[in-house]
Amino acid sequence: MIRVLFVCLGNICRSPTAHGVMLKKVEALGLSGEIQVDSAGTAAYHVGEKPDARATQTAAKRGYDLSTLRARQAVAEDFGTFDYVLAMDNENLANLQAICSPGSQTQPQLFLSFARRFRESEVPDPYYGGASGFEHVLDLVEDACDGLLADIENRQNKQNRSGDA
Ligand code: 4NP
Repeated sequence: MIRVLFVCLGNICRSPTAHGVMLKKVEALGLSGEIQVDSAGTAAYHVGEKPDARATQTAAKRGYDLSTLRARQAVAEDFGTFDYVLAMDNENLANLQAICSPGSQTQPQLFLSFARRFRESEVPDPYYGGASGFEHVLDLVEDACDGLLADIENRQNKQNRSGDA
C-alpha cells in the first residue's frame, strides 16, 4: 500500500481538491486497493468542516466529489504513516518540516514538483480570491496528480525489481 497525504493551510480549498482528484484518478486506474489518499491542514482553523463551497462546486464541474471530506490538522505521526506528504506551497512545506523529525524516512515535498505541464512550484491559495483561482488550483492539481501517479508506478516497479533480485 502506498499512502499519500496532501497538505495546505486550512484543508478546505487546495488539499481537499487534490484529495478528490487523486481519489478519482486512483479509482479510474483500479488502484484503490493499492493507493490510499488523505488530506490535512497545517492550521486547525477549520477542523471538522467540509471543503469550501467554491472548491466543492469547481471540482464537481469536472466530476470530482469533495462532499464527504472533512478537515483535519496534520500531525507529526503522519510522517510515520504516509509515503508522500505533499505541501501546496512553501509556507506549508516549512510548517511540515517543523513537525517532521530529521530521521524520518518520509520528508515533506512540494506537490508541484510532480507537475509536468505547469512550471509553477506552488499551488496559490484561492481563499481570498475569485472563481478563476479555484479553476487554476484544479488545473495545477490535475497535472501534478498525473505526475505523482507516474512516480508511484516507478517506485513500485523499483520495489518489485529489488524484490526479484
Ligand atoms: P487552503 O485555503 O489552505 O487551500 O484550505 C485556505 C483556507 C482557509 C484560510 C486560508 C487558506 N483561512 O485563513 O481561514
